[in-house]
Amino acid sequence: MASPLDPARSLPLLVDRRVRPLHDLRISVTDRCNFRCPYCMPAEIYGERYAFLPKREILSFEEIERLARIFVELGVGKLRITGGEPLLRAQLSGLIARLAALPGAPDLALTTNGYLLAEQAEGLAGAGLRRITVSLDSLDPEVFGRMNGKNFPVARVLDGIKEADRARLAPIKLNCVVQRGVNDHTIVALAARFRGTAMIVRFIEFMDVGTLNHWNQGDVLSAREIRDRIHDAFPLEPLAPGYRGEVANRYRYADGAGEIGIIASVTQPFCGDCTRARLSADGHLFTCLFATSGVDLKAPLRSGVGDDALRAQIADLWRARTDRYSEARAELASGREKIEMFRIGG
Ligand code: GTP
Ligand code: 5AD
Ligand code: SF4
Ligand code: SF4
Repeated sequence: MASPLDPARSLPLLVDRRVRPLHDLRISVTDRCNFRCPYCMPAEIYGERYAFLPKREILSFEEIERLARIFVELGVGKLRITGGEPLLRAQLSGLIARLAALPGAPDLALTTNGYLLAEQAEGLAGAGLRRITVSLDSLDPEVFGRMNGKNFPVARVLDGIKEADRARLAPIKLNCVVQRGVNDHTIVALAARFRGTAMIVRFIEFMDVGTLNHWNQGDVLSAREIRDRIHDAFPLEPLAPGYRGEVANRYRYADGAGEIGIIASVTQPFCGDCTRARLSADGHLFTCLFATSGVDLKAPLRSGVGDDALRAQIADLWRARTDRYSEARAELASGREKIEMFRIGG
């Protein structure tokens, strides 16, 4: 069978074994974080003396730019910068400027915990960042303090969001991981706060990423329950996806006060449309959020191989891809090794 064509370029489209194109590259620029969210980087494990990646192991901006260019040549249309916490990477706007100048002008977004956003928003926008997603699990200072593991104030993140808005990093999306018994009693207040603005709150089902967050199904507030609770307070109407493979189910407020999203990765897995590759800060490529291991691209990158060889290696990896962890969750062994979320940025 002939391969489908990339409509934008009339080239054969790079697809995996399940005919999913490679469309998004998520680039982690550091494995460090200033938060210690218990569901991601529990403080008792990632304490003061934990050995994060040494500098020499982390891809330089030149190396990231080179890989990103190759991915764009292979069909990637969206780059998302993640961490750990990406705003901890020194001079991040220098990387943004390089990526914003890539031929093909891919969409350029960033996911942050917002703690350093107030001082960086304008510089990032000036460097060419288009939009931003801020994690915001609760507005309740006590709940927020517990969920960031450091008792940091939510007011500082709200200041960051205000500055991002002022810098026109639009649309701003706000990600809330919902854990039953932890922050589920605060989700309606979160929705209420951003109703009537152009910002989009997205409620995410708590996932079994990594190996450390003691996940169990009972902690998941399902997308259905999330929708019902918000709908009871502010009636909702479903919206069509913004693009094929969008992870969030979109809803609008029936009274026209804006939009929310619900990400049902546990109860309604979306592997069938998953077009995402993830690059860790030390240059390993992961083709699934739940992968046990990645493929080292840093070694070939640093051993002087040419772009053609790198392009061929990445294309071969994608063609061989069969990942569908969320769909197969029930069949897979629960004690299986999985990459930690902060290494590949969600
Ligand atoms: P947009 O480009 O704005 O649509 O963003 P996005 O939805 O691609 O990105 P974002 O980083 O905000 O994703 C939100 C959350 O959805 C992530 O933090 C994860 O929790 C979850 N998520 C994103 N991609 C995947 C995926 O491929 N698999 C699973 N299981 N969850 C994902
Ligand atoms: N389940 C769902 N989302 C998670 N994130 C981190 N850990 C989990 C989890 N276990 C989200 C963060 C952030 C993004 C990077 O990933 O809240 O929005
Ligand atoms: Fe840091 Fe994000 Fe992990 Fe929280 S979820 S510890 S903010 S990387
Ligand atoms: Fe993609 Fe893996 Fe998430 Fe499925 S579980 S949507 S294959 S990243």
